[in-house]
Amino acid sequence: MQVEALVSAALEARERAYCPYSSFAVGAALLAADGRIFTGCNIENATQGPGVCAERTALYKAVSEGVRDFMAIAVAGGKAGFPPEQFCPPCGVCRQALAEFCVPSLEVILVSQNGIERHTLGELFPLAFSVSEG
Ligand code: THU
Repeated sequence: MQVEALVSAALEARERAYCPYSSFAVGAALLAADGRIFTGCNIENATQGPGVCAERTALYKAVSEGVRDFMAIAVAGGKAGFPPEQFCPPCGVCRQALAEFCVPSLEVILVSQNGIERHTLGELFPLAFSVSEG
């Protein structure tokens, strides 16, 4: 598992966050089974609705490139312009979006300036709704 590369990619993607309304910058880096890393940042909008989280930006970039097999995602978020002081776990909508494409064993790596914390999607989002199992 390329944990260090993933953490660096999430921090780098965070630099590209467009968050003038919240001043909360988030970066994500999604590791595909083929070793490729897809990054994303949050992209806000004056009318709020079209805004998207960093995790979904990364996920949708990958899926739109034909990639649907993932190993891990790293996420770093916090006040824009400062290192991430605390962990930024994916929001509920992003957990549902990840659950559509990722196995419960997907590693979710939370990144702060003090280090990382490793979880799994299944741990963060148990009893996920899915049509096939519904
Ligand atoms: N945000 C993310 O990008 N990922 C998360 O998991 C939590 C929240 C973004 C959405 C919004 O642009 C800003 O952070 C403040 O909520």
